[in-house]
Amino acid sequence: MKTQDMISMLNLKDPDELDLLFKQAYAVKKHTVGTNVYFRGIIELSNICTKNCFYCGIRKGNTEVQRYMMTFEEVIEAAVWSHEQGYGSIVIQSGERSDAEFTGFISSLLKEIQIRTNGELGITLSLGEQTEDTYRQWFELGAHRYLIRIETSNPILYHTLHPADHSWSKRIECIRTLKRLAYQTGTGVMIGLPGQTVEHLAEDIQFFMDEDIDMIGMGPFIPHHGTPYHNLVNGFDGEAALERALKMIAVCRIAMPDINIASTTALQALNPTGREMGLLAGANIIMPNITDTKYRASYTLYEGKPCLDENASQCIGCLENRITSIGESIGYRQWGDSLHYVNRKS
Ligand code: 5AD
Ligand code: SF4
Ligand code: FES
Repeated sequence: MKTQDMISMLNLKDPDELDLLFKQAYAVKKHTVGTNVYFRGIIELSNICTKNCFYCGIRKGNTEVQRYMMTFEEVIEAAVWSHEQGYGSIVIQSGERSDAEFTGFISSLLKEIQIRTNGELGITLSLGEQTEDTYRQWFELGAHRYLIRIETSNPILYHTLHPADHSWSKRIECIRTLKRLAYQTGTGVMIGLPGQTVEHLAEDIQFFMDEDIDMIGMGPFIPHHGTPYHNLVNGFDGEAALERALKMIAVCRIAMPDINIASTTALQALNPTGREMGLLAGANIIMPNITDTKYRASYTLYEGKPCLDENASQCIGCLENRITSIGESIGYRQWGDSLHYVNRKS
């Protein structure tokens, strides 16, 4: 797809034209990856983070946050529960840490999860920048997918959103290393960042294509009161943010028909049916939150995160209803690998 076509689609405003765009993306999805939605139960392992991204509610500099780390048993329990529920896979996500205590903890979790679920549960990690050795060790221990958002593919914009010691190039290197190690590799961006234009978003899609990535997890930027962007909280236009994010999903699906695209929780923060809208615009993955309710409020990256008082069973029941209500089905007990990865490897 040409950049100019991406820009035109991303600029659509007319409700009828938007409807057509979403329908076109949905048709592409139906034809290539189908209408099975795959669940990845997400475990928010810890909100302890060594980084200080300007937009993020759990950045190191936000002293309002009560920091936590789940225990070994709590994580194992959540993984075993997901397996029993018939989830094909889980995602372990955390604030960024690369000290040996942390990387070793992840390794022991991977070993135990493999044993307790007979190697049947797919494991995706979303633990930020790590060394090649760490990535390799985790892969050998059974993690087979990795998500690391580039946040924006534009290095100049990246540097306006992060402290000087956060490196855009390092993140690209991580994505390339993960691919080389044969992980199914996912990345993504935030949509509607301060200073971001439609041209930047088109560049982001081109970046996903050039890097030949297997999965996308992206969502709207939503300002948080405990960050340097607190002044954007009042006056934030959630409706426009939602529309922009849905357009990105649709254009990505049309440009990259066989990848996995997540309908992320942040969409539901903007509209109670935001995640269904994401599926109807071309996404095919949902990540139900399976974190213990007691930790959920402390993992608030953006304002208005949904399901803070619900537990894992409530979210799953709720999401099942949401998915069937739009005529789609759930791919239980299947890993739901990215078709793009399968094709890339064969
Ligand atoms: N709004 C939306 N998404 C955010 N993230 C962090 N802060 C925000 C925010 N304010 C996203 C980043 C990060 C992921 C874990 O959460 O893209 O990679
Ligand atoms: Fe840490 Fe990720 Fe938040 Fe950045 S976006 S501060 S790395 S949790
Ligand atoms: Fe959590 Fe609906 S998705 S309660």
